[in-house]
Amino acid sequence: AAPLVRELQPGEIGPAAAGLVLDALAARRDPVIGVATGSSPSPLYAALSASGADFSRAAWFALDEYVGLPAGHPQSYAEVLRREIIEPLGLDPQAVHLPDPHREDLQKACDEYERSIAAAGGIDLQILGIGRNGHLAFNEPGGALDSRTRVEILTEDTRRANQRFFDSLDSVPTRCLTQGLGTILDAGQLLLIARGQDKAEALRAALRGPVSPECPASVLQLHGRLTVLADPAAASLL
Ligand code: GLP
Repeated sequence: AAPLVRELQPGEIGPAAAGLVLDALAARRDPVIGVATGSSPSPLYAALSASGADFSRAAWFALDEYVGLPAGHPQSYAEVLRREIIEPLGLDPQAVHLPDPHREDLQKACDEYERSIAAAGGIDLQILGIGRNGHLAFNEPGGALDSRTRVEILTEDTRRANQRFFDSLDSVPTRCLTQGLGTILDAGQLLLIARGQDKAEALRAALRGPVSPECPASVLQLHGRLTVLADPAAASLL
């Protein structure tokens, strides 16, 4: 099925995305929502918080996490999710899952993460941003299109893009744990949020280019239930 692309004004994206998430929450008794970090979904989380909905039946699974930051580091995605969703939505921290970057055997932590997603019944709706190099979660260009949760080496471009959250480029981790592209495609429904001019080329390549490891987000074309919410700048090359 062709993706549903909705071009919205910046202020409309959060409420529109929240509407989709609230529908997914209402559709199942024990809904499972996949959550992204980064700046793209922030308006969605703010709108969910403002909705006053009951989130107590849901489980939440993160897309990715840095490796190498000390526990409690403010830029670890565990802490970002605490600030962005656990506190504002009043979630039980136990209901919010991330792959564990502090384990000695990182691949084992990734395999366990895959199993915990499956045990929860799979992800009903996965929220996504897109990297300006076309990455999805932290799946960098060049990897397999059917990958599972694993250790990934961050590209210099991604580390530079995320440097704004750290003191210097050197303090940006070089490794992470990320859901694979295959993991992401298993979700029942995908919701991609893209904002700003610096996402325009990545969004064009993802939706209009060939499905190719060079643009990991191009796997979105393989999913039958994708909604893209983009502001006019991000949608400008579609
Ligand atoms: C980050 C995250 C991704 C996110 C992307 C875009 O590095 N790991 O999950 O979607 O890059 O981030 P932003 O929304 O801040 O542009």
